[in-house]
Amino acid sequence: LTSETYPEIQRGDYAKLTDEDIAHFKAIVSESGVVTDADDLVFYNEDWMRKYRGMSSIVLKPKTTEQVSQIVQYCNEKKLAVVPQGGNTGLVGGSVPVFDEIVLSLANMNSVRSFDPVSGILVADAGVILEVADQYLAERGHIFPLDLGAKGSCHIGGNVATNAGGLRLLRYGSLHGTVLGLEVVLPNGKILNALSSLRKDNTGYDLKQLFIGSEGTLGVITGISILCPQRPKATNVAFLGVESYEAVQKAFVHAKAELSEILSAFEFMDNKSLKLVQDHSDLARPLEDEYPFYVLIETSGSNKDHDDAKLESFLENAMESEVVLDGVVSQDETQLKNLWMWREFIAEASGKGGGVYKYDVSVPLKDLYSLVEDVTARLNEHNLIGDSDEFPVIDSVGYGHLGDGNLHLNVAVRRYEKKVEKVLEPFVYEWISKRSGSISAEHGLGFAKKNYIGYSKDQDSIDLMKAIKSQFDPNHIMNPYKYF
Ligand code: FAD
Ligand code: MLT
Ligand code: ZN
Repeated sequence: LTSETYPEIQRGDYAKLTDEDIAHFKAIVSESGVVTDADDLVFYNEDWMRKYRGMSSIVLKPKTTEQVSQIVQYCNEKKLAVVPQGGNTGLVGGSVPVFDEIVLSLANMNSVRSFDPVSGILVADAGVILEVADQYLAERGHIFPLDLGAKGSCHIGGNVATNAGGLRLLRYGSLHGTVLGLEVVLPNGKILNALSSLRKDNTGYDLKQLFIGSEGTLGVITGISILCPQRPKATNVAFLGVESYEAVQKAFVHAKAELSEILSAFEFMDNKSLKLVQDHSDLARPLEDEYPFYVLIETSGSNKDHDDAKLESFLENAMESEVVLDGVVSQDETQLKNLWMWREFIAEASGKGGGVYKYDVSVPLKDLYSLVEDVTARLNEHNLIGDSDEFPVIDSVGYGHLGDGNLHLNVAVRRYEKKVEKVLEPFVYEWISKRSGSISAEHGLGFAKKNYIGYSKDQDSIDLMKAIKSQFDPNHIMNPYKYF
């Protein structure tokens, strides 16, 4: 069997699904937990960007950890390859099969197990949708310590599996800090119960950390224990126009100094990103005039008057010193959401013209935006960007979580073409490597970046990672062809 999509990759030496296997799975998860209808399979085989497509003929949807365990144990014995799948919103092709791997969807494991209002610790199934978890917490005065544009579809298990960063990492930190415990079905089917609800626990290696960001290669995350802060009573969003990337950095320094403990997000985007959103949405422009760069600042606190006064004073100073040229502050919840849309919708808008090459990088702040400039210049040199159909590239845009030193470079294209890819890669990865950056700040490696890990990690580290993988999964059944 060879994949139509990836002729250059050989299928691993895995067993092929038989009727006997299907009957066995039906005995575990019942008829309703097995999807084999060709139309229904399309969603699970294709990623969010419609860039990566596998050809699995079966999706399993267990309802309990015990069922996951029985499935995985069987697959390990039979050498059937498995792809764990959450909401299928991943951006590196990690969540879909490459060949005929079995898709193990966590969608039916979607209950909150417990919530302690004193400590703020939530314990929930991996398949709970992020927005649902956050809504559950909102009703109890708390907030999920992660937020991102795909919140309506992604699972909290998928978030942990990818170590998603998102829009408020600046405030609440990474999942490596907020996740307190995990329940994981290991590749041999054993259930690792590390679902601790303790803030402090220094007894031995912190095993859960290995699974955070492991992208389904070491086991199936089935339960999560996570520390959820108090929900802020007051939230403001300011959308600002600035003249240069220098000014974006200055605004960040001002914001940290003057908004300090109430600053909960500092996002930026270039004018080209804003134009993409404008082209593909009916949102009213946030500011009348155009600026080379925009900054979105969110404040979250417990006292509205106090926060308003601080934000006002910050804006006055920033405009007086001409760091900020213009700005608007949300007056109500609808406006606040609309301003956030200008930032959150860039991901979707970038692919609307046909496709998008995505680079999600960390480099020292001062150099961050030069990547967009250098890539744009290179695409122009090769005569690939233009307004008409003869040019494959629509534009190359930059935006991201400036407060975390994380840039998203999106090259929006009319169609995927090898010649564009060759101009971009390995150029982008070499550029990052020269600056000791990361080729994947938050989206992970998946299928898209598996060949490039060496640009960010040395061989000793990669060898150690491979040894860990083999220790956990000697038959390499978990999410093959991905990661490294
Ligand atoms: P999937 O896409 O289903 O899976 C992702 C990976 O995790 C796969 O390798 C899969 O095998 C594995 N996996 C999933 N569930 C499990 C499990 N239970 N156990 C073991 N492995 C599992 N990412 C950011 O970091 N920051 C952002 O701001 C951000 N914004 C986004 C905005 C949009 C519009 C979109 C589409 C994506 C965005 N992402 C962002 C990408 C991000 O990785 C995902 O949205 C999310 O974290 C993945 O969750 P998911 O449930 O969809 O996982
Ligand atoms: C974002 O920050 O918007 C996300 O990481 C998604 C993306 O960049 O495509
Ligand atoms: Zn992001």
